[in-house]
Amino acid sequence: MAQLIGGLATSHIPAIGNAIHKGLQNDPYWAPFFAGYPPVQKWLGAQKPDVVVMFYNDHGLNFFLDKMPTFAVGAAAQYNNADEGWGIPTLPPFKGEVDLSWQIINTLIGQDFDIVTCQDMLVDHACTLPLKLFWPEGEAPVTIVPININTVQFPLPSAKRVYALGKAVGEAIAAWDSSKKVVVCASGGLSHQLDGERAGFINKEFDLQFMDSLVSNPEWATQFSTLELVEKTGTQGVELLMWLAMRAALSSAGPRVKEVHRNYHIPISNTATGLMAFALA
Ligand code: DHB
Ligand code: FE
Repeated sequence: MAQLIGGLATSHIPAIGNAIHKGLQNDPYWAPFFAGYPPVQKWLGAQKPDVVVMFYNDHGLNFFLDKMPTFAVGAAAQYNNADEGWGIPTLPPFKGEVDLSWQIINTLIGQDFDIVTCQDMLVDHACTLPLKLFWPEGEAPVTIVPININTVQFPLPSAKRVYALGKAVGEAIAAWDSSKKVVVCASGGLSHQLDGERAGFINKEFDLQFMDSLVSNPEWATQFSTLELVEKTGTQGVELLMWLAMRAALSSAGPRVKEVHRNYHIPISNTATGLMAFALA
């Protein structure tokens, strides 16, 4: 059976791609952000996962406001990165782990999740930047299964539903007939609001409480409605639902789930940035 080795979570912001492109990692503005990643890069270098299951939200590249799936799972052999208008150079295509995609799709449909299956799918900064942050040299040595969770256009799925989805994805990985090592990854958050009256809103207290909850009480955030989460974290901060899905995927491992690293830094752009890594002891 496949081996689920742990979970990662990181913020995503298009400006990170620009900073990487321009080599600004040691710039005083960027250094506290990029300094968070080497311990995770080292952990991944030692663990050598074969596959990344990436929970993220598409930002209008693949799904626009006219057609917005609540949950969409990639089942493509290859995922092309396309420019979103920010002018960041695109990354080479990513190889899909098609067999695991169908394992996850069949498990989710079998558990009554009405997902969209995408045999053709573009990937945006939210899928590509975590991979670049975790494997900064060359192409990431992994195949991927991208899983989209709508945090862009209301109505959004509840935290409770997202947790259930993550748990089912974890079960699908554990039951996958493969000798490969899999790591689950969340891309998004933490608190931020890019537009409207509260543009620039950040909630450090809630972010830190949320990060702590993932260690000791992973279902804590499921008590909140999506509107409460928007109130507490901002209209885009609700992307932290990805972190919940990632952590839920590990939940069947119980107390074997150990935090191995975290970083938290304010601000990059208008965003409170977070990074967490969990290993299965
Ligand atoms: C920013 C943050 C995001 O999550 C995103 O997808 C786009 C932009 C930002 O802070 O600039
Ligand atoms: Fe985003």
